[in-house]
Amino acid sequence: MSKVQKIKGVADMYPPESTTFAHLEQTARQVFSRYGYQEVRLPLMEPTQLFSRSIGEETDVVQKEMYTFPDRKGRSLTLRPEATAGMMRAYIENGLHSPGAVHKMFTFGPMFRYERPQKGRMRQFHQLDVEMVGATEPQADAELVLMLATYLRALGMRQLTFEINSLGCRTCRPRHRAALDAFFAALPGFEELCDDCKRRAGTNPLRVLDCKTPRCRELTAAAPVIEDHLCPDCSGAYAEVQAILAGAGVDFVKNPRLVRGLDYYVGLTFEVTSTDIGAQTAVAGGGRYDGLVRQLGGPDVPATGFAIGMERLALLVPPVGQPAADFFVAVLDPAAPSPALALAQELREAGLSGETGFASGSMKSRMRAADRSGARWCLLLGGQELADGTVTLRDMGSGEQRTLPRAEAVALLANRG
Ligand code: HAM
Repeated sequence: MSKVQKIKGVADMYPPESTTFAHLEQTARQVFSRYGYQEVRLPLMEPTQLFSRSIGEETDVVQKEMYTFPDRKGRSLTLRPEATAGMMRAYIENGLHSPGAVHKMFTFGPMFRYERPQKGRMRQFHQLDVEMVGATEPQADAELVLMLATYLRALGMRQLTFEINSLGCRTCRPRHRAALDAFFAALPGFEELCDDCKRRAGTNPLRVLDCKTPRCRELTAAAPVIEDHLCPDCSGAYAEVQAILAGAGVDFVKNPRLVRGLDYYVGLTFEVTSTDIGAQTAVAGGGRYDGLVRQLGGPDVPATGFAIGMERLALLVPPVGQPAADFFVAVLDPAAPSPALALAQELREAGLSGETGFASGSMKSRMRAADRSGARWCLLLGGQELADGTVTLRDMGSGEQRTLPRAEAVALLANRG
């Protein structure tokens, strides 16, 4: 019979990658909790309109990349392509809003986008997503970027670039939009833009700046940048964030074309990029998205956040090894498997990690198994040890061994770790 294989763009994850993922999550829990964030877990499936209403009808994600299907009652569902929309739906639905309060939360998990798979780009990938709702101050954006930098440093990463931009607010956006409209109306090579860009120049011209097609980038190289159209509040906030980051020693570059791939952004946006993961340079991205909660039927609260692509991060952090086992109980007598299991159980309850063979075998084959396990200690249970209530303890590093009462061996190992 033919074998069933996994679908394109998804991965089975084993050590060392799965161990690295656990390390990324554990470090995130430690670092983010220092900033007052709490972990939440949300559904992978949501009503389709949640995403079309928040991410934007004109984005690649909504137009080309969503896994959307009718359920058995014909309702349109979508596998989440990102976490922010679901986080805000849950914030509203669970009544988490309280006036004046800042709500900080994070989550990990799989996201789904129908993209062309390549190194660092999957159809099922994982994000570490962070959201802060309720703070409008530029210090909140700065704190978020500082937390991201702290997290990346805690993972031992230094060679990363922070790119930042401001996308302005409801006051400055229309002015920039008018400048973009005028630019496209007068663009000599307009017909050479890709079909998406030609359409978006009319519907959502900011998206054109995000196009990856080289010809489109060339043609729009001189397009007006939002920074020249920021209102005093937005330019003040942008300057403040830059001053805080510079003061805290976070290196950043201003990228006036950083518009991000999702439509809900306003104000500060940022990306962390690396040149070490092939064509996929963005490791993390985020920014402010005031207005989204209201757009989804909730209160008018400001919000800001970011997400890290865990597969891309895993390509950059040094691999994390599984901690070595403490012991291996080698069974050398047909009567020994049960006492061996009892001994292993005692050791595990004392906080040690290790394994036991479930069947007896020759000394040679059991020592091979102990070697393979990488354990520091091997405990041998043969006929003599069973009769005497002892165990032979072998230090796998030095090869030294001695026989002692079982309780003493447990106490010895528990004390030495
Ligand atoms: P995003 O830029 O679309 O932002 O995705 C964030 C990160 O997810 C990217 O920088 C990248 O590392 C990773 N990523 C995206 N697509 C793929 C893929 N197909 N394969 C592997 N990794 C991928 C967001 O999703 C926003 N929700 C971030 C945010 C949170 N903004 C505010 N709060």
